[in-house]
Amino acid sequence: MDFSRTVLVTGGAGFIGSHLVCSLVHRHPEWRIINLDNLDYCCSPKSLESIENRTNYTFIRGDVCNSRLVNHIFNSENIDIIFHLAARTHVEASFESPSAFQRVNVDGTRVLLGAAHQARHQPQRFIYISTDEVYGPSLDEVFDESSPVRPSNPYAATKAAAEYLVRSYWDQYKFPIIITRSNNIYGPRQYTEKVIPRFLTLLQMNKKCTIQGTLPKSRHFLFVSDAINAFLLVLEKGIVGEIYNVGTSCEIPIVQLARELVRMIKSVPESEVNDWLEFVPDRPRVDLRYPIKCEKLQHLGWRAEVSWAEGIRQTVKWYRDNPDFWSDISEDQQPIRGESENTATISPST
Ligand SMILES: NC(=O)c1ccc[n+]([C@@H]2O[C@H](COP(=O)([O-])OP(=O)(O)OC[C@H]3O[C@@H](n4cnc5c(N)ncnc54)[C@H](O)[C@@H]3O)[C@@H](O)[C@H]2O)c1
Repeated sequence: MDFSRTVLVTGGAGFIGSHLVCSLVHRHPEWRIINLDNLDYCCSPKSLESIENRTNYTFIRGDVCNSRLVNHIFNSENIDIIFHLAARTHVEASFESPSAFQRVNVDGTRVLLGAAHQARHQPQRFIYISTDEVYGPSLDEVFDESSPVRPSNPYAATKAAAEYLVRSYWDQYKFPIIITRSNNIYGPRQYTEKVIPRFLTLLQMNKKCTIQGTLPKSRHFLFVSDAINAFLLVLEKGIVGEIYNVGTSCEIPIVQLARELVRMIKSVPESEVNDWLEFVPDRPRVDLRYPIKCEKLQHLGWRAEVSWAEGIRQTVKWYRDNPDFWSDISEDQQPIRGESENTATISPST
């Protein structure tokens, strides 16, 4: 069968990647979707069960840092579009093993960019999925796309470094890149190290929500389908060389989030809600909030459509209906122990 476009998604077995791949495969049977992912500990092949037999879908298990493999993909397939999501993503783990983050997030991006740029068949778009964390934290200033980049943790620093590499291909070669910077994305199938699934999983095990520190930390939460719609809109209408914030006004203090989830999962009287919270020590410096403006994306026609009430309802329902989804990840997908570069332990994070 002839396909009108070939799309390569890296990290397509992860939380956002699997939603993106499933949307592309279902919405565009006339496109071929190739998913390159090394199936790291944070993803499950079950996320892709609904599309695994579709004729327009191909999975390649491999490392985005493997230049032979990545060059081979670009030399043997006519890749038109790249969505680059493959990354190490857990902030707390990035303090423990920054070089692993540098390898995947920076070197992986360099390898992918080089192969895409050298490919015989020139890609039309290279979309790099970045994060609001590259701005660093802010109490009052609301960041737009021209705000300075001041990452304050190793994860964000590697995402920012990768962004600079991506932008250099635009500056030097007019290679058609676009960068998105999104708020925290949540929804079904997110691995349990991230804050919403972590709280839900703890509560389902009759354990308390562990909240790091007592500072008034909050996050902006965007439902995953709204993020996917933003990425697909940027593909069709985004201007090459540009950066687009993907944001939401839905800012939730982490303590309020925990209380809300306790009410939904435990149905306890209001007087007992706080009994399900436990405050644990935090890093000396934490990023309290990351406010961003996304007018540029709104001018392309994007609006977040899923309210917090609806998004969290769907998310809680999914974790209720799938309590074992993450409990049986295979041995070779467990986090690699012993790769730590210091003796800190991983603590749950946002
Ligand atoms: N989750 C969020 O709130 C959020 C917000 C903004 C931006 N992002 C960005 O979106 C992207 C996806 O995030 P996510 O939350 O889905 O993360 P995730 O951790 O769920 O998924 C990451 C995926 O990358 C894959 N991967 C890791 N190393 C790889 C390698 N060397 N080669 C190939 N694949 C590899 C993993 O197997 C996994 O499938 C990341 O680039 C992240 O920085 C995430």
